[in-house]
Amino acid sequence: MPASNSVLAEPLTLPCGVTVKNRFFKAPMHEALGTPELGPSQDIVDLYGRWADGGAGILVTGNVAVDSRHLGEPGNIVVEDESHLDMLRRWAQAGTAHGTQLWMQINHPGRQSPRSVNRHPVAPSEIPSAGDYGQFFAPPRELSREEIGDIVRRFVTTARIAKKAGFTGVEIHAAHGYLISQFLSPVDNHRTDEYGGSLQGRMRFLVEVYQGMRETLGPDFPIAVKLNSSDGEPGGMTQEESLLIAARLCELGVDVLEVSGGTYRKPVFEEADSGVEDHRRGVYFADYARRLKELVSMPVALTGGFRSASEMEEAVTEGLTDLVGIGRPLALMPDLPQRILDGAGRRRIDLPRVSTRVKALDERLGSVLVIGWYEMQMHRLAQGRYASAHGNGLAALAFTLRRHGPGALMPRRVGRRG
Ligand SMILES: Cc1cc2nc3c(=O)[nH]c(=O)nc-3n(C[C@H](O)[C@H](O)[C@H](O)COP(=O)(O)O)c2cc1C
Repeated sequence: MPASNSVLAEPLTLPCGVTVKNRFFKAPMHEALGTPELGPSQDIVDLYGRWADGGAGILVTGNVAVDSRHLGEPGNIVVEDESHLDMLRRWAQAGTAHGTQLWMQINHPGRQSPRSVNRHPVAPSEIPSAGDYGQFFAPPRELSREEIGDIVRRFVTTARIAKKAGFTGVEIHAAHGYLISQFLSPVDNHRTDEYGGSLQGRMRFLVEVYQGMRETLGPDFPIAVKLNSSDGEPGGMTQEESLLIAARLCELGVDVLEVSGGTYRKPVFEEADSGVEDHRRGVYFADYARRLKELVSMPVALTGGFRSASEMEEAVTEGLTDLVGIGRPLALMPDLPQRILDGAGRRRIDLPRVSTRVKALDERLGSVLVIGWYEMQMHRLAQGRYASAHGNGLAALAFTLRRHGPGALMPRRVGRRG
């Protein structure tokens, strides 16, 4: 298909009135490129310059934390005051080149804040993370209502500073088992005050964060929300509940709903990366997206599993999604959108299998290895290099140890110490 005819080249006007130049939506991927002072590094500026040159309409940043005491992962960037404003401005300038939208994803990890960076995490209720991965995290303390109010204000402050620095939008991270997702989940939220109980109660924290941001940022500034289609675990937020939340967010005027799924314990990409990616799995959460599009009028960005131009075009043409959310392929090929728009990038992108070639190590490290490998690719891109074609798990392991220390790999040892 000639480039100019691709449905992916069509602009999209959001409810706030901003027009996005095309349908490519770079999904948030934590870059681990924060400085020791928790600010943006020159590497992250360069990485986003490269992605902006790559042609996507919207670049969403990896999650940025609202509180330096509560990091989601080592290498996080924190925006809780204006101390990094100069570097934030440089980041925004690089990421908005060529009319690209650059949206900051804003997050509080709640109890999903690893022991290696936080010994005193907080959560809606004192419920520790379950399973093997639970050992990565210290048991959380229940938030008071005053503390919840403080976190709402922190989300708003981070968003205000993002806008001041030149970011053209924000995304609230309400997925993947982080704090907002913990509030939404009936297994994680046992509160008996107005922030728990019914779905309306569990949704209150998210709604307050959104409304606070909208009031401060104004009616014409894009605000997106990333939401799980379901938590995918027994007793967690169901698909029905997620659809009801989406309908409420649409009523409130959210500009884009990014659809995802999974938690830290069972990440969205784990299944696919336990071996060579399963081609038959296709686009993730497609059934949910179908139901969602019947229910809401706001633009949707479906993220996960898009590996070829034809899949992307089909999803937009069929009305499954308005924007095509792409994560890992853009860490491998930062100019994939431009290649597709030029008619040159129609080959399927197969993600390499990330493996140490030692089965026991692969099994023990699981997604830590995959995340480390993709972080490594983003670092290579930041330095003007190409991503690696081989999923060398040992190289990813060495990289993770060098960057984050052994705490990132050894939940059991850290657990016994803690
Ligand atoms: C290294 C890495 C870091 C990620 N960090 C984030 C993040 O900070 N926030 C978020 O919402 N999703 C994050 N994700 C999930 C992606 O946004 C996306 O949902 C997932 O990779 C599936 O999309 P894909 O199949 O196109 O890669 C991350 C994924 C990877 C691989």
